[in-house]
Amino acid sequence: MRDRVRVGPTLVDFHEARDRVAATVHVTPMENSNSLSAVLGSPVYLKCENLQRTGSYKIRGAVNRLARLTDDEKTRGVVAASAGNHAQGVAYAARELGIPATIFMPIGAALPKLQATRHYGAHVELVGVTVAESLAAAAAFSERTGAVRIHPFDHIDIVAGQGTLGLDIYDQRPDLDSVLVPIGGGGLISGVASAIKQRAALDGRRVRVVGVQAANAASYPPSLAAGVPTEIPTLPTIADGILVNKPGELNFEMVREYVDDIVAVTDDETAQALLVLLERAKLVVEPAGAVGAAAILAGRVSDLGSTVVLLSGGNIDPMMMERVISHGLAASERYLKLRIPLPDRPGQLARVSAIVAEANANVLEVLHTRHNGGLQISQVELELHIETRGPEHADAVLAALRAEGFMPRVDF
Ligand SMILES: Cc1ncc(COP(=O)(O)O)c(C=O)c1O
Repeated sequence: MRDRVRVGPTLVDFHEARDRVAATVHVTPMENSNSLSAVLGSPVYLKCENLQRTGSYKIRGAVNRLARLTDDEKTRGVVAASAGNHAQGVAYAARELGIPATIFMPIGAALPKLQATRHYGAHVELVGVTVAESLAAAAAFSERTGAVRIHPFDHIDIVAGQGTLGLDIYDQRPDLDSVLVPIGGGGLISGVASAIKQRAALDGRRVRVVGVQAANAASYPPSLAAGVPTEIPTLPTIADGILVNKPGELNFEMVREYVDDIVAVTDDETAQALLVLLERAKLVVEPAGAVGAAAILAGRVSDLGSTVVLLSGGNIDPMMMERVISHGLAASERYLKLRIPLPDRPGQLARVSAIVAEANANVLEVLHTRHNGGLQISQVELELHIETRGPEHADAVLAALRAEGFMPRVDF
């Protein structure tokens, strides 16, 4: 088998990595999803790495990479830069193996991720506004101290560690036809795709691997078109875990070899998927971990047969969760924020309330104000937050208000 692999770890490497990480990582559950199966039209299973130790699959690569360091390297310690999941994975792995770890995080890193990384025993330095600035600081630290840099995706031992997840998926669902995998730099998908394809080939089977990127940071399609890893301008995305502007070198070669297709999803689609996973599957998943489910719900993929959706992480801080829930509700038109100009006469608020109640919608918040620049002196504005049952119900509420002469503006 070793000879037949053109790029990256062999199946033997993946099995050895699995032995190395076995004592640390959980074999996470594989759940059925009736809601996603109904949308895709074939069975969908959720691989719950959101329930993995440290809250994401990242610990697999970190443990494998750190376990393979020489004694001298272990004594020098390790250094990494990350805004979240890689930081936690490296910190946890370092503690397990008794290796000193320094993690550079951007100043605005989410508090729960910062606290978890410190809690696992790493020394955390807050440097820079972006991960790129933290990376530069980590590189300088490595130069100064000799600490070994642990790249989040572009290293063969990281890829072999992430690929252990491919082996677990195949063991749990040897009948699968396809797997949907989130992509940032490509460490996760290169390992999973290579391991699962090499393993399935032993049984004479073929598994289709589809990567999913955030539309605001989709570096792979232009890189594949150009034939080389290509840096792209990115925009902010709620899927911060996969906000990477350039594929890794090794990862790019492996994706070219093993990945069948790549699609992208918008933040609205990801927010809606997060809500479905929360409401229907009772799973807390972070935005980067939910893009596979989003690809199904948004109709970006089809004809996949029996499909495993890899939920790669669950580290979402409560403030973000609150924002994503309201965004997801708004995107699926179950939460309407309306601005309605009203003549400044008694009884107008009661009329609007009656219309909304008559339409069976629930008022969540009301703000009645005269202080909006666009208003005339004889007008007030009513800001109304309403819960509806979905797009049709939302349209019915708007139509009922318009039929009574009001001019609601949807503001979300
Ligand atoms: C939750 C989650 N999913 C997916 C990824 C993508 O990983 P990669 O950069 O290896 O493609 C990351 C990366 O940090 C992540 O945190």
